[in-house]
Amino acid sequence: MTLDALDRARGEDAPVGTAITHAGSDRGSPTLVPVERYLSPEFAAREMASMWPRVWQIACTLDHVSEPGDYFEHRVGAISVIVVRGDDGVLRAFQNVCRHRANLLCTGSGQGLTELRCGYHRWAWSLDGRLREVPSRKGFGKLRNDEFPLFPAAVESWGPLVFVNLDPDAAPLLDQLEGMPEHASWIGIDDFRATFMVTMPVAANWKTVVDTFSETYHVQGLHREMLGSMDDIDAPQTVWGHTSMSTQRYGIPSPRFPDGLDDQTIWESFVLTQGGRMGVTEAGTVPEIPPGATLSDVITERIVAHQAANGVDLARFDPDQMLTLIQYNLFPNATVLVTPDLLSVLVATPGPDPDHATMTAINFTRAAGPDAPRTRPVDVQVGEGEVSLGFVLDADVSVAPRVQRGFHQPGFTHLALSSEECRIVNTHRNLERYLGIEPSELSGGPVA
Ligand code: FES
Ligand SMILES: [Fe+2]
Repeated sequence: MTLDALDRARGEDAPVGTAITHAGSDRGSPTLVPVERYLSPEFAAREMASMWPRVWQIACTLDHVSEPGDYFEHRVGAISVIVVRGDDGVLRAFQNVCRHRANLLCTGSGQGLTELRCGYHRWAWSLDGRLREVPSRKGFGKLRNDEFPLFPAAVESWGPLVFVNLDPDAAPLLDQLEGMPEHASWIGIDDFRATFMVTMPVAANWKTVVDTFSETYHVQGLHREMLGSMDDIDAPQTVWGHTSMSTQRYGIPSPRFPDGLDDQTIWESFVLTQGGRMGVTEAGTVPEIPPGATLSDVITERIVAHQAANGVDLARFDPDQMLTLIQYNLFPNATVLVTPDLLSVLVATPGPDPDHATMTAINFTRAAGPDAPRTRPVDVQVGEGEVSLGFVLDADVSVAPRVQRGFHQPGFTHLALSSEECRIVNTHRNLERYLGIEPSELSGGPVA
């Protein structure tokens, strides 16, 4: 069925998508967010001073730093953190700054590091952060090595994801992840291995990018092709606090079609948007559905067979588990998309000004088990629009700069959010706490 035909088949006044009510967005009027938060250098400076150094954020994956001497530099704005696996196998993180005169100690990522040596005057630290060499030491008088260790940062992992926090008094990562680890416990998240990490500039504020991955309301606008194989209405959301979540069932049509859709149309929509999960690129005719089975059963079987070809046994997962995409939103800047056969992580960090961000997409494949060997992912940096992240994500990435441009229109003073966009409201609630903004600034009701 063509997109036009799909549009004609939809009902005009579909029910509002499932939304939670405790994010402060169910007030009987839109939740209004001042657009300055997306535009103002002063607001960006407040974020940089009060939020980024105090929050757990994804830096890299365990696959980047699995062996002694592996290192990865994580940047957010002017802040740089080095994650490094020590000779003793312990994962550590340090602020990337020389204790002599502040030169950056290392950049990028790599393997085989045996020390952290500054390239300016060659002070050197061991991988556990202890100062061990100061050239021409006598000129400093009495300089004690133990008074100049590298500044440690907190580092912890969940599944294959490595998080850092510059706050030495940070609560444990699990506190910030809240309900997510338990919610995801049946999936086997430790089985996933990172395959590639793509970093690209986006001409939009980091929150503009994050917002795109924080609601499903836009599916019926930006991703109309998905409506044939996705329930975008009954897509429950939960806000835990720092962390929030939405689940979306695929392999069935949107309730926006009052008369439903035939299996051929559902199949074509699924292949177009997620065919790779089955190893299918051309839809052709919908596969035969055995008596008593559903199209969801058939799609699930195909996904299981596709994974089995790679030695991954997913036969234990039923169609509801396999075809329900879970989307976790981790304040401030990460989206974790997961089903039993896929894990994909999207992160946005601030760029050089409020109109620019850096977006990172990390792709994972499932291995046979949690003890499967790790290999270094391929890391690539590309220009804006230089690489395709797939049909759906490309649409998400391309809309962000258009939104950012719209924010500059003089008449546009506030975003007007629905209860369906409660995870965006939640991002702002968290920001307010870190920045010490009274929540009343996020007002309800129309702007005069
Ligand atoms: S700035 Fe690093 S050794 Fe001087
Ligand atoms: Fe999207």
